[in-house]
Amino acid sequence: VPQGLFDYIDGGAEDEITMAENEHAFRAVAFRPRAGQRVESPRLNTTVLGTPVSLPVLLAPCGLIQTMHPDGALGVIRAAQKSGTIPVLSTFSGIPPESVASQPGPRWLQLYAVDRHMAKDLIDRAAASHFDALVITADSPTMGKRERDIRHTSISAGPISLSTALRMAPQVLLKPRWTARTLRTTISTLTTATLPGRPHGLRPDSATTTATAPPLPRPSEDSETPLAGNASPPLVSPFTWEDIAWIRDLWSGPLLVKGILTGEDAVSSLDAGADAVIVSNHGGRQLESAPATLRVLPEVVNAVGTRGEVLVDGGIRRGGDVVKALALGARAVLIGRPYLFALCAAGESGVERILEILRADMARTMVLLGCRSVADLNPTWLQ
Ligand SMILES: Cc1cc2nc3c(=O)[nH]c(=O)nc-3n(C[C@H](O)[C@H](O)[C@H](O)COP(=O)(O)O)c2cc1C
Repeated sequence: VPQGLFDYIDGGAEDEITMAENEHAFRAVAFRPRAGQRVESPRLNTTVLGTPVSLPVLLAPCGLIQTMHPDGALGVIRAAQKSGTIPVLSTFSGIPPESVASQPGPRWLQLYAVDRHMAKDLIDRAAASHFDALVITADSPTMGKRERDIRHTSISAGPISLSTALRMAPQVLLKPRWTARTLRTTISTLTTATLPGRPHGLRPDSATTTATAPPLPRPSEDSETPLAGNASPPLVSPFTWEDIAWIRDLWSGPLLVKGILTGEDAVSSLDAGADAVIVSNHGGRQLESAPATLRVLPEVVNAVGTRGEVLVDGGIRRGGDVVKALALGARAVLIGRPYLFALCAAGESGVERILEILRADMARTMVLLGCRSVADLNPTWLQ
C-alpha cells in the first residue's frame, strides 16, 4: 500500500507514547502457570453480549478499510464470520451500512456523529440493515494529532484537492498494483467517507429537526481543515452522557460505549443504559499520554462488577495477550492493526489467517499455562 496509507494504519497521536505503552503493558505482565494439568483442547469459546463466539477476539471498527484491499469491508465481515467472531464496522469504513445488510451472521456498527440528526439517521439505517449491536465511540470529540498523516498529506483529513492529489501522486505511483486494484474504491472513499462529521451517505443538513432530537453543538465552521496553531479543534463526534441515554431510547439492541479508561466513566456508561464498555484509547491515536488499556482494565472491571460486560483493545499482538486480558476480567478483546495489515497483505483470507494464528497461539498458551477454559481465567493466573 502507499506509504501514507501504511502510516495511517501504523501510526498514532503525537509522540506515539500511548500507542507504544499499549504493547508494553502486555509485555510487563507475567503468567503464573500451573504444572501437572494435562490440558487437551482448551476451550476458547464464550459469549459476548449473548452472541456465541468461537474465539474471544473481535475485529475493531476501523476507518478506510475499503481502501486497504479490494476485498474491503465485506471481506473483513466474511472472514470474521467464517472464524466464528464478530466484526465491528466503522462509520468511516468507506461503505454504507446497507451494503452489508444481506450478509449472514452477527455484526456490529460503530457510531460517530457530529449531532443527533446524524446519529438518528445512522441508527435507523443500522436497524434496517440488521446490525446486532451499536458501539458508540466516546473518545473522539475531536481528532488526535497524527503527525505521520500530516507528513504524508493527511489522507483522513478532508476532500482531496488537486494540489493534495499531486502531492500524493509519488506515493501512489510507487505502488502500481495497489493503485490498479484499489483506485476506483479509493477515490470514492476518500472523497466521501473520511470527512470529519460527514460519514459516508449521511445527510446531516437534510435531516428533520424534532423535539426529541435537539442538536448537539455544531462543529466549528472550519471543521474540515486540519488542526493548526491555537485554533479550537473541530468537533468530530462529541457525545455526552445525555446523548448516550438518548441513543439508548432509540436503539433496542445491545449498546456498547468504546473509549472508556476509568471506573467512573464505565459507571456513567452503564447509568446511561449501555450493556457493555470497551476499554480503549483508540490504539493510541487520540489523546496522547492516555494510559495503556491493560493497566486500567482492572479498575474498569471492578467498577462494572456484574452490571455489564467489559471488552478491551489496544496493543494485542499475541494469543498470550488475549489470555492476559481475559485473566484481568475482559469478556473478549478487539484487534485493530493486526487484522488491517492482514487485510492489506492478503484480503479476506489474510484476515482469516490472522484470526487462526491468534487462535493457535491462545490454545498453546492455555495448554502451557495448564488452564482448561477461558471461563476459568482470573487474576490468579498472572503474577
Ligand atoms: C487505521 C485505524 C482506523 C481506526 N478507525 C476507527 C474508527 O473509525 N472508529 C473507532 O471507534 N476506532 C477506530 N480505530 C481504533 C480501533 O477501533 C481500535 O480501538 C484500535 O485499533 C485498537 O488498537 P490496536 O490497533 O493496537 O489493536 C482505528 C484504528 C486504526 C488503526
